[in-house]
Amino acid sequence: MAALLDIRDLRVTMPGLGRPILDGVRLSVADGEAVALVGESGSGKSVTARSALGLFPSTASVTGSVLVGGTEIVGATASAVRGVRTSVASMIFQDPRAGVNPVRRVGDFLTEPLRRIRGFGKREADARALELLDAVGLHDPGHVLRCFPHELSGGMLQRVMIAYALTADPRLLLCDEPTTALDVTTQAEIMAILGRLRRGRGLGMLLITHDLDLAAAVCDRVYVMYAGRIMEYAPAAALVAHPRHPYTAGLLGSAPPLSGEPRRLTPIPGSPLSLAHGVDGCPFAARCTFAEPGVCDVTVPALQKYGDSETACLRAGQILEAR
Ligand SMILES: Nc1ncnc2c1ncn2[C@@H]1O[C@H](COP(=O)(O)OP(=O)(O)OP(=O)(O)O)[C@@H](O)[C@H]1O
Ligand SMILES: [Mg+2]
Repeated sequence: MAALLDIRDLRVTMPGLGRPILDGVRLSVADGEAVALVGESGSGKSVTARSALGLFPSTASVTGSVLVGGTEIVGATASAVRGVRTSVASMIFQDPRAGVNPVRRVGDFLTEPLRRIRGFGKREADARALELLDAVGLHDPGHVLRCFPHELSGGMLQRVMIAYALTADPRLLLCDEPTTALDVTTQAEIMAILGRLRRGRGLGMLLITHDLDLAAAVCDRVYVMYAGRIMEYAPAAALVAHPRHPYTAGLLGSAPPLSGEPRRLTPIPGSPLSLAHGVDGCPFAARCTFAEPGVCDVTVPALQKYGDSETACLRAGQILEAR
């Protein structure tokens, strides 16, 4: 059976850049599966997630395949893409305030797609909006429906945005750093709501985050991205316990753990590869303490299979032996 989201060999290039924004990305999410996509700023996580809704940068050339619920997005007609956006996949963004119209009440915001796209009558749309606000854990949904966005806290508004994403009755939720703009307590509440909704409705989820520990706690599998390429993916627990790629190990070593013993933090040296610069070998070679000159900076590593994981590192075998 085809995956709910099946991205294959996705390459996104723009004129005037030294390297592609995405370079041969392969990523899948099965029905009901929670998958995380992690990596430093600028690695291409948002461009990957947005590709599922056909939201490519306007001057980009795109090759490869993005199948969403069996529909090909690359090269698709506007109506095919609209069909996917209105019935298969919905997105939740980092900043809830950026996604709402400040002069429209929450009720109008939520009922508009239900009436326009799903053909609900007014009463039916109002009832569904109340039900969705209740499902995202908002007390007194009737009051929230009458509120303007500025009358709600960031956490409440992100719940409204999750309810909005659910108006399409999607099978796939694309969550682009849904808690980054919120305080720690609210972050945990929003993640709990997303987890509950996902399990209750059997939704597939692609969760973008900077936080590998959070990704591993919430998701079944984790993809690690760097400079527009997938460097490694693995079942969540295995990725955190035995990272094979030096970049994954670097991300884990540079952030405090979510639970358990505190550990000494070691930042990854250098900074992420700019889009202005081309690269011949492994894009991480210049920052990698395991890189072998004349090998890693020359040859592009392909993803190699290790059981149910894959790692794109020419030296993964030797690094494992050395540990
Ligand atoms: N519309 C666009 N036009 C030009 N460049 C773009 C466009 N969208 C993304 N990029 C570039 O593509 C690269 C990847 O961007 P993307 O937003 O996917 O990164 P990200 O991994 O989501 O980072 P962050 O963690 O900061 O959100 C960045 O260098 C970004 O500047
Ligand atoms: Mg992003």
